Amino acid sequence: MAGSNIYESPRLLDEYLLFHYGSETDVFADGEIPYPAAMREAMGFTRRTVGYFGEFTVARGLDLGCAVGASTFAMAKHCEHVVGIDFSHAFIDAAAALHRGETIAYRRHDEGGMYQELRARAAGRIDRCSFEQGDAMELRTDLGAFDRVHAANVICRLPRPTALLDRLPELVHPGGELILATPCTWLEEYTPPSAWPMGDTFSWLQQQLSPHFELMHRCHEPFLIRETARKFQWSQSLVTCWQRK
Ligand SMILES: C[S@@+](CC[C@H](N)C(=O)[O-])C[C@H]1O[C@@H](n2cnc3c(N)ncnc32)[C@H](O)[C@@H]1O
Repeated sequence: MAGSNIYESPRLLDEYLLFHYGSETDVFADGEIPYPAAMREAMGFTRRTVGYFGEFTVARGLDLGCAVGASTFAMAKHCEHVVGIDFSHAFIDAAAALHRGETIAYRRHDEGGMYQELRARAAGRIDRCSFEQGDAMELRTDLGAFDRVHAANVICRLPRPTALLDRLPELVHPGGELILATPCTWLEEYTPPSAWPMGDTFSWLQQQLSPHFELMHRCHEPFLIRETARKFQWSQSLVTCWQRK
């Protein structure tokens, strides 16, 4: 058992469909509200983290904790096949529907009982993707190895984060690329404090990964999840890019 039921809820499904597929106009619909420029700059997170992979085409990619799939579809631009895995059945069902070319209707919450119906549709090489429900801490043994692995904002949502970190050397081909992004929001509701990093998350990642991976790049990427017209989660994700030794 892992993950949290909150990611099965209709509210989170709506918020993530907006986060992954909403346009700037969809997200900042109320022209009267003076949203700071930094909020607009946080748009497109799911594509920006994928942008740290090389711009050449490889055979196999893996997107762990893919949610409703926007990063998986983005990875397909330079991967012949990308597998998206998430623990949430609701998220994977939505990603799979988008993969079939369907348009999904979802609701943007404005305030109180006010909602706006919007539609999500995936673009690009959606034919190169597949989605499956799975646990990032107990991935199926026949998953094989990949040229690129992406795990954005998932490590600090796992009850046993080291279970994923320990599996990564096997998941990435020698010379392959790994991108880990995390806002380092360790919370007891997802991860017992005994499994949190002892110090800062970056030092812990370095300690865990450096025997098998070389750190290539480290930076910060903001992301924005809209709850209502006037309430947003604005976070900075620590992005680390690694090459498998
Ligand atoms: C904060 S969201 C990030 C989603 C996406 N990568 C993004 O950047 O929008 C965390 C995701 O991790 C998924 N998740 C939580 N526990 C998981 C687990 N054990 N295995 C796989 N996915 C998990 C959740 O369902 C959710 O989609």
